[in-house]
Amino acid sequence: MNAVTFLSPVTQEIKLVEERMRMQADESHPDLRAALEHLLAAGGKRVRPTLGLLVGNMLNAPLDKLVTLGAAVELLHTATLVHDDLIDGALLRRGMPTLNARWSPPATVLTGDFLFARAAKLAAEADHLALMKLFSETLAIIVNGELTQMFTSRGLISRDNYYKRIYAKTASLFEMTSRASAMVSPVDDGMIESMRDFGYQVGMAFQIVDDILDFNGEQAAVGKPLGSDLHNGLVTLPAIFYAEANPDDADVLSLPNGGWTNTENMTRLVENIRASNSSRLAMHEAERHVDRALAILATLENCAEREALENLAKYIVDRKV
Ligand code: IPE
Ligand code: IPE
Ligand code: MG
Ligand code: MG
Repeated sequence: MNAVTFLSPVTQEIKLVEERMRMQADESHPDLRAALEHLLAAGGKRVRPTLGLLVGNMLNAPLDKLVTLGAAVELLHTATLVHDDLIDGALLRRGMPTLNARWSPPATVLTGDFLFARAAKLAAEADHLALMKLFSETLAIIVNGELTQMFTSRGLISRDNYYKRIYAKTASLFEMTSRASAMVSPVDDGMIESMRDFGYQVGMAFQIVDDILDFNGEQAAVGKPLGSDLHNGLVTLPAIFYAEANPDDADVLSLPNGGWTNTENMTRLVENIRASNSSRLAMHEAERHVDRALAILATLENCAEREALENLAKYIVDRKV
């Protein structure tokens, strides 16, 4: 599970982040506490706090602020997953049953809300007004993106729409994490902008790879339901490449008219996409973002954290989880 943190100089600091996350459940209802324990025990790759800690350590930010930020970001991420799995009806996450698999929808919604509230409190504890604004703006971007995906993007075969969607739902949070770490560091605006862009590039690559894994991943490794994006009407990059190469495919043609609701047809389309080179083409796009991220790092002084950030950026495209 800890492929990222394992190789990084922040393994110990990630433990502090997890400890800080765990503290947020204190004094809550026993059922809520149990649910939060379940969520925390399931782990996760902790990619976002790892990113934040590495950027902040590289730029000499105070550790306590980085730990606070890391816990805020990871709790926000966890909250979006709790709601996302309820919305998608997904029963598996991080190899464990989701909250909605074991609990009622109302209890799941409220648990997500509690996590959002605790994430906001942690962000406020960084004691930095601009950062608090950035945090809430990012959450608004994520939620707005999810609503757009729900109401206007289903069945839509559009690269432009795809890139906007993955920025909103994923890259915006990576961007914020990296930028926020620079904001609490003794650096100038140019460096903050470079780190924002670094987070953006890594985040775009991360979601493209997530979308590839939905087609080509190994269920046991990924630990969440696969092959589900198309069935949910989400036309991601591998499907877009396939549609561009096969414009007359009947299943492709059906997508914009609600054809994604036909389970049999979509199962066939998923198989055809798997057998094509579309995922390889999508991977090239992810690699282009990683190359841009590496180019940003190349302008900085060499140090252990820079090297770990390079590894993190490369890991994004090599990962199986
Ligand atoms: C899953 O994120 C949701 C996406 C944005 C793709 P991660 O792949 O980081 O999930 P965990 O935290 O490791 O489970
Ligand atoms: C989830 O993206 C992003 C948010 C939670 C906002 P996905 O729907 O691709 O994530 P998975 O595949 O369920 O992890
Ligand atoms: Mg999902
Ligand atoms: Mg996904």
